[in-house]
Amino acid sequence: MRATAIAQPNIALIKYWGKRDLQRNLPAVGSISITLRDLSTTMSVEFDDPLPADSLTINDIDAQQMLPRISACIDRVIGQTRPRARINSRCNFPVAAGLASSASAFAAATLAAAAAAGKSFEQAELANLAGRASGSAARSLLGGFVELENRENDISVETICAADDWPLTVVVAITESGPKAVGSTEAMEISRKTSPFYSAWVERQAHDLGVARQAVLQRDFEQLAAIAEHNCLKMHSIMWASRPPVVYWNSATMRCLQAVRKLQREGTAVFFTIDAGPQLKAVCLPGEAERVSATLGAIEGVSEVMMSALGGAARVLDAS
Ligand code: DP6
Repeated sequence: MRATAIAQPNIALIKYWGKRDLQRNLPAVGSISITLRDLSTTMSVEFDDPLPADSLTINDIDAQQMLPRISACIDRVIGQTRPRARINSRCNFPVAAGLASSASAFAAATLAAAAAAGKSFEQAELANLAGRASGSAARSLLGGFVELENRENDISVETICAADDWPLTVVVAITESGPKAVGSTEAMEISRKTSPFYSAWVERQAHDLGVARQAVLQRDFEQLAAIAEHNCLKMHSIMWASRPPVVYWNSATMRCLQAVRKLQREGTAVFFTIDAGPQLKAVCLPGEAERVSATLGAIEGVSEVMMSALGGAARVLDAS
C-alpha cells in the first residue's frame, strides 16, 4: 500500500495554451516538449486506513494548498472510496515558478498512486489520468522529445525522439523564485475568453507542430529554434492582448532574451523559450552549455542558473 515514483519536469517547445474542455481538462491544442534529466520530483504515496484525511508535504513542509488537486488526482486513479493517503513529495527546483513543477508532480502522483494500489494501466490511460490533473503532466510520463496529440475525445503522448538520440542541454535562468501571480489554468481561461488572437493561435498550431516535429526528426537545430521561439512569443502575445493582460515577464526575463539573441548573432547554437512565469529557458547544443550558462548567470536580476540534459521517462522506484 506504499509506492514511490519519480518524474522530471518538461519544457514545451510548442506550447499548450488554452482548454477546449475545462471539465475534462482537455487542451485546445497539441504540444511538443522535452523532458529534463536533472530536475525531478520524487513522490511517495502511502495508503493508511485509520488516517482521517489525506496529507501532503513538499520537501518536508506541510503543503495544504496543493492537496485538493493531488487528492483529486489520486481519486481519479483509484476511485473515491479509497483509504486516505500520506503523500510526501521532494522537489529539487522551485515549485510554482513557471518551471513545470505541476507536470512532474502530477506525473509522479499518478504513477505512485497506481503502484501503491497495485493497479496497472496502459500508457494511454496513464496519460489521460495525468492530463486530467494537469495538461503538461501527461508529457512528463515520457522521456526525450514528447508530442502530445489532441484527439477527438482524449489525448495521447508519444516520444518522437529519445533523449540520447539528440542530446541537447537546457539552461534555466531563475529571475524570481516565488510563486507566480496568476496560475496558468486561470490565465489560459482569460486568454480564451478575451484575447483577440486566441482563435488564430488554435488554428495555426497544427502548422507549428508539423514544422517542429520535422525539425526534431531531422535533428535540424536552426529550424527547431525558429519555430520554438515563434510559438513561445505567440503564446505570450495572446496573454499580453488579453483583458486583463497577463504579463509573466520581468525586466531580467527581457535581458536574458536579449542576451540569447546576442549569442545567436555571435554564432552560438541556442534558442529561448518562456512559460507561465518569468524564468527563461535556453536550449542549446551541449558544447555551448557552459558559455550560455555563464552569459545568463552574469545578467542583473538572475539569481540562479540551473542546467539539465534531456532525460527519460517517469518511473516507479519502489512499491510494497
Ligand atoms: C505555459 O499544464 O500547468 O507551461 O492543465 O491547467 O494544469 P493545467 O496547465 P499546465 O500549463 C502549462 C502551460 C505552459 C505551456 C506548456 O507546458 O505546454
